[in-house]
Amino acid sequence: MADPWLGRTVLGRYRLRKKLGEGGMSVAYLADGGGHHVVVKLPNVGGPNPIDICIDKLRVEGEVLERIWRQYGGHPNIVKFVDRGDEGQYPVVVEEYVQGQTLAEYAAGKGGLDPDEAFEIGKRLADVLRFLHGYGIIHRDFAADNVMVRGADPVLIDFGTAKEGYAQLKPGTKIGKPCVSPPEQAIKGYAYFSSDVYMWASMLMGAMKPRRGRSVGAIDNFCRYINPSGALIAEPCDLVECGSYAGCLNDVLKMALEIDPTKRIKDGVELYDSLTRCSPPPPPCGTYLLINGRRVCLDPSKAYIVGTETASEPDIKIPEPELRRSGKTYISRRHARIWYDRSRGRWLIQDLGSVNGTKIIRGGQEIVMYFGCRDRCPGQPSQPYELVTGDQIALAFSRSTGAPYVVVEFYEQ
Ligand SMILES: Nc1ncnc2c1ncn2[C@@H]1O[C@H](COP(=O)(O)OP(=O)(O)O)[C@@H](O)[C@H]1O
Ligand SMILES: [Mg+2]
Repeated sequence: MADPWLGRTVLGRYRLRKKLGEGGMSVAYLADGGGHHVVVKLPNVGGPNPIDICIDKLRVEGEVLERIWRQYGGHPNIVKFVDRGDEGQYPVVVEEYVQGQTLAEYAAGKGGLDPDEAFEIGKRLADVLRFLHGYGIIHRDFAADNVMVRGADPVLIDFGTAKEGYAQLKPGTKIGKPCVSPPEQAIKGYAYFSSDVYMWASMLMGAMKPRRGRSVGAIDNFCRYINPSGALIAEPCDLVECGSYAGCLNDVLKMALEIDPTKRIKDGVELYDSLTRCSPPPPPCGTYLLINGRRVCLDPSKAYIVGTETASEPDIKIPEPELRRSGKTYISRRHARIWYDRSRGRWLIQDLGSVNGTKIIRGGQEIVMYFGCRDRCPGQPSQPYELVTGDQIALAFSRSTGAPYVVVEFYEQ
C-alpha cells in the first residue's frame, strides 16, 4: 500500500520526502524544512502497538527532546530538537537529520568494532547517560538501533521510551528488547537508572568484535553471551575483543551487567567515572590524533597538513564524511596545519582558510578558530591555537546548525 504520508506537508512547513525507518512506536521520514533536511516522526499507525500508546509515546518523546535542548542545553551526542506539534489527531516530532548508519548497521558492516573505537563510542554514550540521568531521565531502550553513527561519533536518536522523574517503582509497560534489556525491565517492567547502564553494556558488547564466531548483529551477538537466566557465560573480555583495555573494561562491563540492579553500577555518573579510570592503553607514541578510531602519531620535529589532498608524508589525510547530497565535500584539500612550537612547548593548530571552518570542542565549550570562507573563498589562515590533550577538533561544521562534519581528537601523554 502506498504510504499516505509521503509527499505531504506537516505542521505547514515540513514536506515528507522519504521513509527512513520505523520502530514499534513511530515512523521516521526524511523531510525538507526551510531549505535543509530534517527528520519528521509520526506514530506508527500500522505497527504492532495500539495506536493510543504510539501517540502517547511520541508526545512524550517530543516533550523530552524539547526540554533536553531548550532547558538543559543539549548534548553533542543527542539528536537536536527542531520542532513539534500536532497534525490532526497525531503528534509530530521534528528533529535534526543525522546522516549515517545506526550503530547496529555500522558495527555489522565492520564485523564488530575494534577495541579503541568501541571504547571511545562507549565513553561518549556513557556521557550521554550521565547527562540524561543528571536530569532524571531514564531512557529505557538504550540500544544499537537507537544510536546513529555520524563519522565516528555516536548520536542517540530515539526518545520514544524515555521517562522523567526519579520515582520508577510502578510497574510500567514492558519496554526494550528481549535479552539486551535487563531482567527487571524485560520481566517485571521496572526501569531504574541502572537499567540504562545494563543496556549501555549490552549494546557495547553486542557491537564489539566477538572473540569466537562471526558477528551476527549487535542484538544477536549479545544474546549468545548470556544464559537463560541472564548471567554472562564468561568474562566479558573473553567473549569480545577488548584489546589493551581488557582489564578495566572487563570490570566495567561486568559491573554494568549485574543481574541484580541494586548491585549494578548505579547510573551514568558512576559509569562514566569508572570508564575514565580505565587508563588508555600504552600509546604507540607520545602525541597522536585519533581519527575514526585510528591513532596517527605526531612527531614534534614535523609539521602536518590535514586535509583531503592525497597525503605526501607527513601530511594526514582526513576521510570525507559520507555524503548524501552529491558532489559536495566538507573537508578542504588543505584544511588545517598542526605543528609543535618548541618555544612554547605546545602543539598548535591553525585553520588554513578552509571552506567549512574549524573549531575546538574542549570540556563541552566550543572555540571557533575559523568560521570557514563558505562561499567567499579562498579564505585567510586563522591564528594558531594551542591544543590541549582531549581536545576534539571539528574539521568543518554546518553553517546553520554548527554540527561538526568530522571530529578528530588530540591526545598528548
Ligand atoms: N534523526 C534521525 N536521523 C536519521 N535517521 C533516523 C533519525 N531518526 C530515526 N531515524 C531512522 O529511523 C529508524 C526508526 O526511528 P526511531 O526513532 O528509532 O523510532 P522508533 O521509536 O519507532 O524505534 C531508526 O532506526 C533510524 O534508522
Ligand atoms: Mg527506535
